[in-house]
Amino acid sequence: MQQTNMKEGEMGDQESFPMTGGDGEYSYTKNSSPQKRAADRAKPMLAEAIGENLDIVPGSPTKSISIADLGCSVGNNTFIAVKNIIEAIQEKYQKQGHTSSPLEFQVFFSDHASNDFNLLFLSLPTDRQYFVCGVPGSFYTRLFPKASLNVIHCSSALHWLSKVPPELGDLKSPCCNREKIFYANAPKEIGEAYAAQYERDMETFLGARAQELAPGGLMVLLISGRISGTLPGKSSLGPQFEPLESSLVDMANEGIISKDKLALFNLPMYSPSPEEIEKIIERNGNYIAKKIEKMPDRTFGLFKKQECRAGFEALIKAHFGSEILDELFDRYEAKVTGRPPPGVAEGIGMGIFILLKRKQ
Ligand SMILES: C[S@@+](CC[C@H](N)C(=O)[O-])C[C@H]1O[C@@H](n2cnc3c(N)ncnc32)[C@H](O)[C@@H]1O
Repeated sequence: MQQTNMKEGEMGDQESFPMTGGDGEYSYTKNSSPQKRAADRAKPMLAEAIGENLDIVPGSPTKSISIADLGCSVGNNTFIAVKNIIEAIQEKYQKQGHTSSPLEFQVFFSDHASNDFNLLFLSLPTDRQYFVCGVPGSFYTRLFPKASLNVIHCSSALHWLSKVPPELGDLKSPCCNREKIFYANAPKEIGEAYAAQYERDMETFLGARAQELAPGGLMVLLISGRISGTLPGKSSLGPQFEPLESSLVDMANEGIISKDKLALFNLPMYSPSPEEIEKIIERNGNYIAKKIEKMPDRTFGLFKKQECRAGFEALIKAHFGSEILDELFDRYEAKVTGRPPPGVAEGIGMGIFILLKRKQ
């Protein structure tokens, strides 16, 4: 077996900010309902995708199906996703009349090494019908041996870039994002810098996965997107981050944090349009794009204080220090309390369901 020579620690300039671990008030395990809602809505599409597209070759009794969930974080969402995938495969297998030798499943839970894998393993469902492996590392590197996976799943994670676009790290650059923490409604060149970073990252992601997926294997990606034909600045994530942004701006204006420090703080996240992602997939050339579909519209509430903190405190702490956390998230809470959810017309939280099949 050829080993990868790309290790996470060697990818020097990648950033890793896991969701808050443990099971405390601000932990991801207790504050991941928005991501669960996204996965619940995709469940019928996932079952259909596997039913119609996975080629199961009932081989020798030792043949097992390998599934990887990338950016798994801690439970429960990853366990639910894996259960849904396995149920869909079993249903298909039974419909094909294979009842004598039950399938065996090997599941790889993968996330940054700094993810709380201890909690993940301690909370594994006791009734699971699969073997478990933890795989630490960035999904912007090779993680698995060649052609070793049958299904790759990645939900609510691929909007994380490997890093903030480098152009934004210069206070004198026209790309310096003063009084903003994201590219939504920012000058065009900032959106373009983010789009270019996303393109580089997705090329790396698709290239690595193309090596790891077995021929005919499936990749299901559930990502945040934006409406086709709009500029990056129309990001569907923009309204979600606005209260956090304005809390930080208030704190900078009051001298609690430095304005230069704020200017250099940006969220490493991006939401592409379906047409944008389609072009990147086409250019890669290793996949048949079976589905790239906007999920049905829905009302999308702003993150509650606990949900926002579970997702972003590691990132904020690394840049501003832990001393601002309580005050920042109290201000955030004051801003979102009683605010009506942004309208669907604003394109907030638009989801894209992507199903790719590795070419034979
Ligand atoms: C919002 S959580 C989603 C977790 C889970 N998939 C769910 O649906 O609840 C995003 C996860 O993606 C992980 N992540 C972000 N960038 C990553 C990368 N480059 N490689 C691996 N995991 C990454 C984060 O560490 C985090 O655990």
